[in-house]
Amino acid sequence: MRKQIVAGNWKMNKDYVDSEILVSKLLETHQHSAVDVIIAPPFTNLLAACHTLKGSSIAVAAQNMHFAESGAYTGEISASMLKSVGVNTVILGHSERRAYFNETDELLAKKVDAALANDIRVIFCFGEELRDRKVGKENEVVASQIKNALFHLPESSWNQIVLAYEPVWAIGTGETATPEQAQDMHAFIRKTLEDQYSTTLADSISILYGGSVKPANAKEIFSKPDVDGGLIGGAALDVDMFNAIVHSF
Ligand code: PGA
Repeated sequence: MRKQIVAGNWKMNKDYVDSEILVSKLLETHQHSAVDVIIAPPFTNLLAACHTLKGSSIAVAAQNMHFAESGAYTGEISASMLKSVGVNTVILGHSERRAYFNETDELLAKKVDAALANDIRVIFCFGEELRDRKVGKENEVVASQIKNALFHLPESSWNQIVLAYEPVWAIGTGETATPEQAQDMHAFIRKTLEDQYSTTLADSISILYGGSVKPANAKEIFSKPDVDGGLIGGAALDVDMFNAIVHSF
């Protein structure tokens, strides 16, 4: 059985106080379920979130990290630093990091390696832009993003990888891929994994959908056989909306 996962990506939102309020509300209202719940607050709130959620089943993720272990990289945070505050998961390859911070597949491959070397689970994001989809290149683009950043990994490393398909045109736009578009892409991704690795691996990897997931559309998207959950942006900042999405399975 694949894990069902709902992860909240807070992006650059919530200062320390507001973050603690949201984390506490999440903890109070969290009902135990089969769904793995993850939240990714900004760096400044990771330590506090880990403390508050200690002993609960809500996991804390970082939104980014550097590939080096330490050194002269002003402004950066390493995998072992994340580990040292209790963070066991990191989001890598988000389209905003690719677009605004020039993160390439090659750079992401190094970050993935550093995370895995520190036993940090990776939520690896990828997805096509609207111009790719308009000319029917979405599968090609997605396959190359996955291949370039992840296909150097041995099969045994994949138990620490979660994939998140996020069509760029659906992020923060209110426009969602239809459940059928999500299913088609997720099935294609699984087939790509099967061709490169094995059916066992392809069947074991959780593939999340991200892009304007809300309580109103989550149920239908999550009902698709190859969709194992969601990476949630805007709706993760509201405790009721986030909980409603978690309970959409
Ligand atoms: P959104 O963001 O839900 O606000 O579209 C999703 C994401 O960027 O992960």
